Amino acid sequence: MPIIFHPSTNTFHLYNNTLSYIIKILPNRQIGNLYFGHKIHDQENFDHLFELANRGVRVCVDEIHNNFSLEHIKQEFPSPYKGDMRLGSIDLAQSNGSHIVEFYYDHHEIFFGKRPLEGLPSTYIESDQEATSLWITLKDPLLHITAILQYTLYEKRAVLTRSVKLCNEGKDTVVIEALSSLNLDLPDADYDMMTLTGAWARERSIKIHPLHEGIQSIYSLRGHSSANFNPFFALKRKETTENQGEAIGVSFVYSGNFLAQVDVDSFNTARINLQIHPATFSWPLHPNQTFQAPEAILVYSNQGINFMSQTFHDLFRQRLVRGPYRDKSRPILINNWEGTYMDFDENILLEMAKEAKNLGVELFVLDDGWFEGRNTDTTSLGDWWADRVKLPHGLSALAKKINDLGLEFGLWIEPEMISKRSHLYQNHPDWILCVPDRNASVGRNQYVLDFSNPDVVDYIARQLENILDHTAVRYIKWDMNRSMSEVYSSSHLPQEQGMIYHKYILGVYRLYERLIQKYPHILFESCASGGGRFDPGMLYYAPQTWTSDNTDAIERLKIQYGTSLVYPLSCMGSHVSAAPNHQLLRNTPLNTRANVAYFGTFGYELDPRVLLPSEKEEIRRQIDFMKKNRSLLQFGTFYRLLSPFENKEAAWMVVSNDRLEAIVGYYRPLQEVNERFRRLPLQGLDPNLLYAIEGKSYKAYGDELMHVGLITTDLSCQEQTDEGDYVSKLFILHAK
Ligand code: DGJ
Repeated sequence: MPIIFHPSTNTFHLYNNTLSYIIKILPNRQIGNLYFGHKIHDQENFDHLFELANRGVRVCVDEIHNNFSLEHIKQEFPSPYKGDMRLGSIDLAQSNGSHIVEFYYDHHEIFFGKRPLEGLPSTYIESDQEATSLWITLKDPLLHITAILQYTLYEKRAVLTRSVKLCNEGKDTVVIEALSSLNLDLPDADYDMMTLTGAWARERSIKIHPLHEGIQSIYSLRGHSSANFNPFFALKRKETTENQGEAIGVSFVYSGNFLAQVDVDSFNTARINLQIHPATFSWPLHPNQTFQAPEAILVYSNQGINFMSQTFHDLFRQRLVRGPYRDKSRPILINNWEGTYMDFDENILLEMAKEAKNLGVELFVLDDGWFEGRNTDTTSLGDWWADRVKLPHGLSALAKKINDLGLEFGLWIEPEMISKRSHLYQNHPDWILCVPDRNASVGRNQYVLDFSNPDVVDYIARQLENILDHTAVRYIKWDMNRSMSEVYSSSHLPQEQGMIYHKYILGVYRLYERLIQKYPHILFESCASGGGRFDPGMLYYAPQTWTSDNTDAIERLKIQYGTSLVYPLSCMGSHVSAAPNHQLLRNTPLNTRANVAYFGTFGYELDPRVLLPSEKEEIRRQIDFMKKNRSLLQFGTFYRLLSPFENKEAAWMVVSNDRLEAIVGYYRPLQEVNERFRRLPLQGLDPNLLYAIEGKSYKAYGDELMHVGLITTDLSCQEQTDEGDYVSKLFILHAK
């Protein structure tokens, strides 16, 4: 069993072939951390790793243990304000005004498998042999509150998941003001922190900075995980590169407000902490109630950042995403948004669909603007029935006509939102999140429905079921176009208002679960003004996410490159759009737009009626190419090769699982004069296989391509035939 308990030393060793995680019941019966990192041999006794720094100035646990200061001890579930001067894992407000808690080891359980987290998304297993779990039960003897620390180690993945569940077995209500899903104390802070930050249309830029003394954090207070800070960070050693060195990846399976921080103390230790953001969270836990915190994921890599990413990719693709599309190549779709915006009718849609079918598209997605009165974004959210002016025969007739053309039908919805100009608002003005007697802030002319109220969720579910029961919908794009504000629910008591942000996201999860259980054949794509909710929580319900509203190929290089730090290509919505691009007005070649979009789910976001014959010809070839290669692109192993954040060019590649095939994407945004020679060292090939490279007259062994590099230059070598800016090239390798 990869989780071992040594009773003589009260030590737990969780290990697989890649990593070791060693924790221990401390002399005061709290849980301490001895080690996390590269796999090491097991031993009965690791007590020498317990560093009880006997420093001059300290607060100790009691008079007997007056050299035992929690301030200097690496812990798993630190209680705050009790001598450990850092932020703790838990803050419980008690009826006597105290926030002091003491959680001591009571018992533990080690079992094969992994239990799901009630009401929350989480990674899963398909057979008990895949993972082993350790649940350590701690008790506060005064409050009679139990904290169960939940660990799961996957046997064949460099992945450890962590969470915590609280149970109130006492007689008093306590209020959870903060609860960490993960606390990990590292013995040194000699790391760079990598984060994915950004904003609308420039999501998930890679930022790297050295850890420094004090707290560094990323967070969301927007009600969704946000484009601004993705719920992920990595700590990497200074010398770590994409392909070698140590890195720790931390990700949160949650879609609401979060706080992820690293606290570096004066002794160069680093405390990693991940939790629902405590600023907007306050949860009364009544006697006999339980509270389950969301899941945190820890990935350990000693083979660089690429291996960390690949570990996340495999985990998310295989054991987070669910449903029939999990293992299926994704349909090539056309979405009418940038083609028509809200200005369409049935005839226009059918003409577009006909053209799209001729190009080889498989799925037609009707975006925003199809429901009653929705001609601008000022109206109609909440009224989920077809606009009879635009669609006189209704949605199901439209879907049928599209099906008759040989295409599947997909539909856009924004179920969490409401316009004041809607029947729903007239009937239920109290269903929006807002504070009584105060102004409600507005975003994109819309308001947020109170998804903490089960009646609201049920009403929206029934409206959607009414469509889905009668319309052949195969795909849904679930959008969410504003951040939340004045989060106050009129269906809850004043003392329950601190629960609303979290209850809201639980309401979203419940609606997703209801729909995917009832309509398992539907492929969901989540979206929040593009990539404002690209997080693992969403992927549990929606196998893909619209990566960004920015469809410019050159900007997408950065967005997709950054996103790939954590998320697999099969989850990344990527479309070819028209030129000039609608966000940047930039003209890029059609082949470059496709060469970027291939590394994702792939589709089109344009009006096929206005394409030139030559463009149609090219698109037909693109779609044929994608159909032939999508399973390699979406399910192969992805490597980042050249970062657009650090270089004038960008490159990445995907290698098939048998390493017989690979596709390299190489991009050069701006042409230079009298260019230099360029060789691009590849990754992941079989060194002993001889690869043919489509379009080149020579073959090369994998070792040459990885160590010498692939020649990607250049006008001077006549390798790069496309001149000008925004040039790109795919290199297709076969070893068959
Ligand atoms: C924002 C999305 O990201 C777009 O793709 C589009 O669906 C619009 N919303 C529609 O309102």
